[in-house]
Amino acid sequence: MRFSSASRPSWARILTVALAGASTVGAIQLNVENDESIKRAAKLVAKNMMSYYTGNRPGDNPGNLPDPYYWWEAGAMFSSLIDYWFYTGDETWNDITTQGLLWQAGDTGAFMPNNQSKTEGNDDQAFWGFAAMSAAERNFPNPPSDKMGWLAMAQAVFNTQAPRWDTSSCNGGLRWQIFTWNNGYTYKNTISTGGFFNLAARLAKYTGNTTYSDWAEKAWDWTESVGFMTPDYHFWDGASDLGNCTEINEIEWTYNNGVYLLGAANMWNVTEDPKWKMRTEKIIQSSSVFFKNNVMVERACESVNTCMVDQRSFKGYLARWMAATTQLAPFTFDEIMPKLKASASAAAKSCSGGSDGTTCGLKWTEQKWDTTKDFGQQMAALEVIQATLITKVAAPVTSDNGGTSKGDPSAGGKPEAPPPSSLTSPITTADRAGAGILTAMMMVTLGGSAGWLIWE
Ligand SMILES: *[C@@H]1O[C@H](CO)[C@@H](O)[C@H](O)[C@H]1NC(C)=O
Ligand SMILES: *[C@@H]1O[C@H](CO)[C@@H](O)[C@H](O)[C@H]1NC(C)=O
Ligand SMILES: *[C@@H]1O[C@H](CO)[C@@H](O)[C@H](O)[C@H]1NC(C)=O
Ligand SMILES: *[C@@H]1O[C@H](CO)[C@@H](O)[C@H](O)[C@H]1NC(C)=O
Repeated sequence: MRFSSASRPSWARILTVALAGASTVGAIQLNVENDESIKRAAKLVAKNMMSYYTGNRPGDNPGNLPDPYYWWEAGAMFSSLIDYWFYTGDETWNDITTQGLLWQAGDTGAFMPNNQSKTEGNDDQAFWGFAAMSAAERNFPNPPSDKMGWLAMAQAVFNTQAPRWDTSSCNGGLRWQIFTWNNGYTYKNTISTGGFFNLAARLAKYTGNTTYSDWAEKAWDWTESVGFMTPDYHFWDGASDLGNCTEINEIEWTYNNGVYLLGAANMWNVTEDPKWKMRTEKIIQSSSVFFKNNVMVERACESVNTCMVDQRSFKGYLARWMAATTQLAPFTFDEIMPKLKASASAAAKSCSGGSDGTTCGLKWTEQKWDTTKDFGQQMAALEVIQATLITKVAAPVTSDNGGTSKGDPSAGGKPEAPPPSSLTSPITTADRAGAGILTAMMMVTLGGSAGWLIWE
């Protein structure tokens, strides 16, 4: 049988589509030695990430991500978008970022919206504060002049957290939760104190005000003395203050190392005290547990397939803060860059899922898509890919060296948000979970077998 001229194109088309499909899958090509390649890859991954964002849709609130993503993760997203703009020069998502940050910062600038008072922990607030801090450090376009500046927002977060330093148990530290009515109020965790430490150190660098560096010293010392950081610089998750922080959850997450690493690097840069150089160096060494052949892995949950929604994003923060560390503590560069490059290459290979071949997997070590998709893992891949451009961008600005962000040392000094109007329904696990998701699960599974806690 002869094909008619009419039928041939249709067969040819099917074949072409099939071939095109085959070549788009595995579509993110990344050469970490080539800037344009990195920028192209970052844009594809970011675009896929932003397909999750609903906060700019009619009827939704700016700064919101839909279920199952918690409020804090949107704050984390805006940091990644600020870095995205800074690394690539692409302004595509700048307006969305400004809108989301201004909306959620609220009148006090402290990121304490009433809508979140059933869930907001100190760590959640800190992740929004990091976005404001990054905006100041990167000279992200300033808000309209009648609005509060990025720096003032970061100061507002600091000013609301410092008075929450709590010596009624464990000799200090920040509680996980801000509000007494939330479960987790009796838990003191590393990411909450670490978030405060990180922000204080960066504020010290930006403003030169020693009040911030004094607090950073205090937060570090406490983390060490309570045992949340071991003598060889491993960071555990936290402990209940009902037992005076003696029973510590010894589980290690990438983001805890990251949050202390960048804080320590800033303190080194501010003080030039050798002890901070040593601490920075030691955290990099202890972080080696999170790398296999230089590719980052969330070892507490990836190998046993138990990474929860929040945890799927954590590797991104270690990548983000490792990159920033090379600027504040340049002696770390040779150790950090090979890890970022290998992780970025592996992450890009994981971003070959979905119909357009840009959906990123969780397990970068597999060097291919692991068939899962999630907002946080998309963000983590974006973070590590764009981080490889760190050598091409300027170091953070400060108030006396190029910074233009408006500050206010007394920002945020208004009362805490009132209790939620209706607490009639019991707070669910979903309500409780936030940046400290492990903690939420610990509460639920307390005394249980908690099989997902296994690590290597
Ligand atoms: C809080 O929720 C209400 C009702 O959905 C909404 O009108 C308001 O804009 C929200 N506030 C923020 C900061 O998102
Ligand atoms: C609680 O622990 C701190 C050290 O972390 C210690 O100084 C304090 O005495 C302890 N308090 C009680 C009541 O055991
Ligand atoms: C502090 O950071 C700047 C900017 O990256 C860098 O040039 C300088 O070398 C750093 N200082 C120290 C002591 O490492
Ligand atoms: C330094 O920061 C503290 C804490 O926010 C503030 O009270 C103080 O006024 C600041 N000092 C200067 C000189 O800005």
